[in-house]
Amino acid sequence: MLKWIDTRSEQEIATAARALYSSAFPDAPEPAGVWAAPGRVNLIGEHIDYAGGASIPFALEQNTAVAVAPRSDGLIRIASEYDGSIAHAEAPLADVRSGYPADWSGYVAGTIWAATAAGALHCTGLDIAIVSDVPVGSGLSSSAALECSVAVAAYELSHGHVPDDAARAQLAQACIRAENEVVGASTGGLDQNASLLGQRGKALFLDFSTGAVERVPFNIEAQDMVLLIADTNAPHTLSDGQYASRRGIIDAVQSAAGCSIREIPNAVDFAATVDPAEAELYRHRVRHVVEETNRTLDAATALASSDLDTFRRLMRESHISLRELYEVTTPELDSAFTAAGELGARMTGGGFGGAVIALIPQSSVESTAQAIHDAAVSRSFPEPTFLVARPGEGARRLS
Ligand code: GLA
Repeated sequence: MLKWIDTRSEQEIATAARALYSSAFPDAPEPAGVWAAPGRVNLIGEHIDYAGGASIPFALEQNTAVAVAPRSDGLIRIASEYDGSIAHAEAPLADVRSGYPADWSGYVAGTIWAATAAGALHCTGLDIAIVSDVPVGSGLSSSAALECSVAVAAYELSHGHVPDDAARAQLAQACIRAENEVVGASTGGLDQNASLLGQRGKALFLDFSTGAVERVPFNIEAQDMVLLIADTNAPHTLSDGQYASRRGIIDAVQSAAGCSIREIPNAVDFAATVDPAEAELYRHRVRHVVEETNRTLDAATALASSDLDTFRRLMRESHISLRELYEVTTPELDSAFTAAGELGARMTGGGFGGAVIALIPQSSVESTAQAIHDAAVSRSFPEPTFLVARPGEGARRLS
């Protein structure tokens, strides 16, 4: 039996957030509202957001919802429902700093801290109850969903109106800073931009060199195609050394050149000179970045002309590059990629676990999911879980 991931409606998840708020903070006033932000799926453009590249993600219909009320004593109190139990945390805003709090509550408190420091909002404390439908550790940006739901709630409570695109871009920067400095995960800007700027029915073209954001129609149903997500359920975390080591090489090359990989002429050859003892490794990593950037630009052109055949071919090449050159796939991801038929398939997100996506005909969803499942089970991997993904709305108020 295939397992499909359950998703609550907006109303259901808002009700759940309010219910958690009432039980976690029985003496507090009613929440001022419920806000939500989605996870994201990245279609192509992987591990290049920190290298001046480009990505084409979309916001998922799976959200993290927060019921929030302001406080006046400078305290952030958090209750979060996860995996059937409730976790509590508390932090005075004045104590938040680089490296504190470094656990999951750092995503929340760090976002308020960074947004306040950037002058994006004013906050004197919050009570926050969190519920989520975004799978954790699946490469679908549950951390960004958490940061961005809190950011948009705190923004609206501070300003009394919804953030426009410029304010969303500023909030995205604050979420990135929280993740980098407070939690200590050296991630780029892909996830936070997708969660804050996504729009129903649209994919995003994010150019990390120019900062340009375009919302592009993602109307694959017109060609009877769907996007299947297969979560391998092999857990990953980006705060371990693997992600940081990939990024470390790219940062070293960029700092030696004084510009992003995208702007370095003959970047692959240049990379080999940065650390001669590791020349081959540096060549491989930078070749992935250069080629993945070109693939993503080609994919944007293909999408604009509804050329899904080209788009699917580029997805396949992206996975192979992430496997061979960037070395961020796992046996579980590679098994799902092969079982999905390779064309239109690739791992998504940071890698080292997480999910594979497959852009496939509607009529082959069941058989593809079955093939991915059977391949995993035959190798004693965890049973994958599945989802058909459509572009949902970015961070917003629910009730
Ligand atoms: C994670 C990071 C992103 C990005 C991807 C890989 O999701 O948070 O910034 O680097 O990995 O593309």
